[in-house]
Amino acid sequence: MPELKRLGFLASGRGSNMLAIIRACESGRLPASPVLVISNNPDARALQLGSEHGLEALHMSRRTHGDAASLDQAMTAAMQAHQVDLVILAGYMKKIGPQLLSAYAHRILNIHPSLLPRHGGRGMYGMHVHEAVIAAGETETGVTVHLVNAEYDSGDILARRTVSVEADDDAESLAARVLEVEHRLYTEVLGKILSGEITLPE
Ligand code: GRF
Repeated sequence: MPELKRLGFLASGRGSNMLAIIRACESGRLPASPVLVISNNPDARALQLGSEHGLEALHMSRRTHGDAASLDQAMTAAMQAHQVDLVILAGYMKKIGPQLLSAYAHRILNIHPSLLPRHGGRGMYGMHVHEAVIAAGETETGVTVHLVNAEYDSGDILARRTVSVEADDDAESLAARVLEVEHRLYTEVLGKILSGEITLPE
């Protein structure tokens, strides 16, 4: 058996995308090992879920590590100590530091709940995204999985999937439908990366 790829997560909140990926690994649908979750938020449900599923779960933030450079260094060291191959952002609300970006160049993924480049960038997170989609009168929105660079939501796009906006949708109903697609698409894209169907740049 080839060694399974090791996944490290960064998450700030409820961690439902992380959980979908962990479950896919546990059931054998995804040939990977989730090993580590780091959160800037000590109360994140993602940390609790990670522990429950046997991942090392660490709170790391400016509160624990002081300045941004020390935090970046510590996060990079933690990923490397756990021999993480792919870093999966799953609702992580902070920018990624230059050290982690360079140690994991083209190996950090994010998911965004819209069809990027529409409705992405600074301030476009959570319900703000779905509110903006409805305010713009879009008939279609969706999900994007992309590589992470130093700016929010602007790295190379790996996959997108469309979700239609219904006339009676509000931000909550739309978010719920988009989230179901997120869970499926993130797992599928990871599967394609692991099988070689999607090739990441060197
Ligand atoms: C998701 O909508 C994801 O697209 C965005 O943040 C949200 C995280 O949700 N980046 P969860 O923590 O995975 O439940």
